[in-house]
Amino acid sequence: MHHVFRAEDVRTVLADSGLFSSDRTRLMPPTAQLGRGNLTMMDPPDHTRIRRIVNQAFTPASVRGLAPAIDEIADELVGSLVPDRFDLVRDLAYPLPIRVISRYLGLPEDRIDRFRTWSIGFSRGDAAQMDEMHRYLAEVAGAKRARPDGDLMSRLATAEVDGVPATIDEIASLAGLILLAGHVTTTSLIAAAVHELCVQPALDVQVREHDRVEELVLEALRVRPAFAQVTRMAEADTILSGTTVPAGALVAAWILSANHDPGLNPDPEPFLLDRPARRHLSLGHGVHYCLGGPLAQIEAVAAVRAVIRRFARLTVIAPVEFHPLPTLAIRRLELEGRADA
Ligand code: HEM
Repeated sequence: MHHVFRAEDVRTVLADSGLFSSDRTRLMPPTAQLGRGNLTMMDPPDHTRIRRIVNQAFTPASVRGLAPAIDEIADELVGSLVPDRFDLVRDLAYPLPIRVISRYLGLPEDRIDRFRTWSIGFSRGDAAQMDEMHRYLAEVAGAKRARPDGDLMSRLATAEVDGVPATIDEIASLAGLILLAGHVTTTSLIAAAVHELCVQPALDVQVREHDRVEELVLEALRVRPAFAQVTRMAEADTILSGTTVPAGALVAAWILSANHDPGLNPDPEPFLLDRPARRHLSLGHGVHYCLGGPLAQIEAVAAVRAVIRRFARLTVIAPVEFHPLPTLAIRRLELEGRADA
């Protein structure tokens, strides 16, 4: 595997889907149905067709329409936190996005524990769990195609490209990816933003007094991207910053490193609300550019606002470590904190 760290090279890798393929199934054959139809592992033209289906369904207006529900869920979860000591990830940063994405898709919220188990199975490549999730989502997609009711699943099930809808298997794979990508990453962002308030009291004051929650979330997205790296496969010999990457090599494009490259952001290390041009690759680049960034930001802003409305001061009381999950290179934070009302 070749590791690419400079922002310019990371951008080059992500921008050229012909030279740097996302189709890693040749090296790591997918063991279950969900893995086979995974949008993030497709190249154009297959990727283009499925992305056009999802783009029709996952619209900016539908995301904006979720804002009141997001505020309501955030307030309810923050209202249930025990003031003296709580686990921010377990009690807020995890349940908020999984409830929001379930509601958006039109899936029953009382099955969230099941979705959680399936998502963990998905990230570990557990074929039995992935198949079970796929069967369930295919059943829902079939029902929504027969009787669409306006939710995201219904829109995915009825969208067409050149007059042809996606297959039920394709919709189930897409929904599974959205369910997974739609919550674990946002959990990281919420935790990273709140963590920064805990460890930087001056920043906490600035955010509260001048309502800088949006900048806090954007800087957390830059400094602590949920995907530390994404992987591609070189289709031909290529030279990157003077090093030859041979055809067939796996390439790890390090988003985390690129975001901290002084070529991208002068003075990249400090966590600053007032960055003049806040450049980052946290949501990817090129044809696979993340479709959920605005949704994640709305959720993180709602979560932080709810927390600071309820608690005047936040302290971290357990050791905190940002670390990657096995397999997915997703960085997450386990955080247990204390808040003083
Ligand atoms: C793609 C990051 C939130 C759905 C990506 C990619 C990155 C990323 C880096 C590109 C992967 C690649 O190039 O291989 C993030 C981060 C998020 C976030 C940091 C939150 C802070 C979300 C949310 C959703 C979502 C909330 C859905 C509700 C997707 C999907 C793709 C994707 C479906 C695949 C797009 C494609 O392959 O064309 N995301 N994401 N993401 N993201 Fe996100």
